[in-house]
Amino acid sequence: MYINFWYPIAKSDEVRTYEPHRTKVLGQNLVAFRDPEGGAHVLSDVCIHRGGALGKGWVKEGKVVCPYHGWQFGGDGLCKYIPSLEDDQVPARAKVDSYPVQEKYGIVFAFLGDLPEEERPPLREVEEYDQEGWRANKLVVFEVGAFYERSMENGLDPSHNEFVHPAQGAPAMLRDFRRKPLEMEDETWGSRFRVTFETTTEETKALKELATHAQDASAGSGFVGPNQMITWIDFANKNGFHQYFFEAPIDENRTRIFFVNMRNFLLQPENDQRLVSVNLIVAQEDIDILEALDPVRTPDSPTEEVLVPSDGAVVRYRDFLNRWTDKGWRIDLKKLRAEQGDRAFAIPCPARRTSKNWVLNPVPVLPPQ
Ligand code: FES
Ligand SMILES: [Fe+2]
Repeated sequence: MYINFWYPIAKSDEVRTYEPHRTKVLGQNLVAFRDPEGGAHVLSDVCIHRGGALGKGWVKEGKVVCPYHGWQFGGDGLCKYIPSLEDDQVPARAKVDSYPVQEKYGIVFAFLGDLPEEERPPLREVEEYDQEGWRANKLVVFEVGAFYERSMENGLDPSHNEFVHPAQGAPAMLRDFRRKPLEMEDETWGSRFRVTFETTTEETKALKELATHAQDASAGSGFVGPNQMITWIDFANKNGFHQYFFEAPIDENRTRIFFVNMRNFLLQPENDQRLVSVNLIVAQEDIDILEALDPVRTPDSPTEEVLVPSDGAVVRYRDFLNRWTDKGWRIDLKKLRAEQGDRAFAIPCPARRTSKNWVLNPVPVLPPQ
């Protein structure tokens, strides 16, 4: 798991002005709430007084109130009020990490890391959102009992489709891999590939009723950062699905996936539910495989697997992860496991670069190379 990327924290309607939303991402508890102007805030959940869970408290005039002794924290993370002290006696150390927020597509995202704005990797844009001729399904959020990198790799692996999703498998794509390896197209923060499939409408049974010409269709996947994935399925007649998956590692065993599905055909709202149902059936087919993978997390050594050319996108994903590990962004899970419970950690926020005296230790990361 990596700090210094944008993560989906909650659905917009879960983040309210009158009660906090408590959640966990990257193994750390977080609290989200809104100020009276509607601005969303995401803070570390651990009260630095004596460890209360802010997310179990309440929100008062744009401040989250710890349920233990009533200390109040603003959206900037600073403690504004301590009931047992005079107003001017609030210690400077009384502050919790507060993360940069973006709210888009019905999702509150937070930048979980300490990089200054100009150095931050981007949040992947959903270009088709609100665009003429495109329609988004209602946001779908689901939890999977699997490590997020395993889930990302599954999305980057076109060779599983024929077996895991027989109803929409594309056999011709597989034949393509035997002829030549996947051609990856790198970007600054990720990579993508596209393959054409020559399959007939007969072979894509589930898509048959959705697309009139499946010939010369193309499909592809790509990733941005460790946790944002897109899948393109474009039919020859320009009809297509563009699917965006924003994944939040809850911890090292579980993942919460925020799924935005764009389409430029069957635009009538009455198709929404049917398409969501099809997508959830497909997702469940993946989940059944992912939750049974052993080991739960990708093995550290490539000698503990046998990779072939159709795993090309998975290999490229791992190359990028290694680059981010070298930057010192990878959470040291062994150290975290060894110490969690004895001390509280927080993902460091950007304010740690400009102000000192933080109470919680930053999550341990592997040293930069
Ligand atoms: S632990 Fe939060 S106010 Fe005491
Ligand atoms: Fe799949």
